[in-house]
Amino acid sequence: MELILPDKKYYPSYLEAIREYREHGVHTHPFVDDNRYDVFERFEDFRTGKNLPEGYVKATYLWLVDGDEFIGESSIRHSLTDALLRYGGHIGYGVRYIQWKKGYGTHMLSRTLQYASGVLGLSRVLITCNDDNYGSARVIEKNGGILQDKVINTIQGAEILTRRYWIDLANFEPQI
Ligand SMILES: CC(C)(COP(=O)(O)OP(=O)(O)OC[C@H]1O[C@@H](n2cnc3c(N)ncnc32)[C@H](O)[C@@H]1OP(=O)(O)O)[C@@H](O)C(=O)NCCC(=O)NCCS
Repeated sequence: MELILPDKKYYPSYLEAIREYREHGVHTHPFVDDNRYDVFERFEDFRTGKNLPEGYVKATYLWLVDGDEFIGESSIRHSLTDALLRYGGHIGYGVRYIQWKKGYGTHMLSRTLQYASGVLGLSRVLITCNDDNYGSARVIEKNGGILQDKVINTIQGAEILTRRYWIDLANFEPQI
């Protein structure tokens, strides 16, 4: 199993993961799904800071893959904005639906944290999740996340309670 920059070899499997989320109504991680542009160019633009939409910061997308299968995606925002401080944080992730509850989320976040520290030089990261996203909260806590607080955000007209966790990468102990 590897955590890699997005690679076209896994794109058919990535499209299956998008389809599974759609079928099961999962909206908590947006896989990059837009036929107006080449998604691989989009990933590279985000990584290098080219053509960023207004208010966006650089972000590195990473894929957890095994054999020919795409298993999950994480994205690391290189810095925080006021909006990301309240909702979104540094790191987002999603595991493909058919692979939930097999330890992949915990493993992928662990490797993503190692990348954030070793490659991007981040020393402390904020990770947020909806208060009722128990699986995501467990994944963060199993990677040493310390709950700072819970804040109310209004997302598309709905009020949601957001947990804000911090992980100190200087003292981070990988799960693998
Ligand atoms: C949240 C998510 C990444 C978890 O991935 P996963 O691969 O299932 O996580 P793991 O297998 O490592 O599970 C970690 C722990 O959470 C528990 N867990 C995972 N999903 C759960 C759920 N839906 N309900 C209850 N517990 C859950 C696991 O049982 C495990 O518990 P344990 O530590 O007691 O053994 C995955 O459900 C997902 O991709 N969800 C959609 C996208 C999303 O919500 N991303 C996070 C946005 S903040």
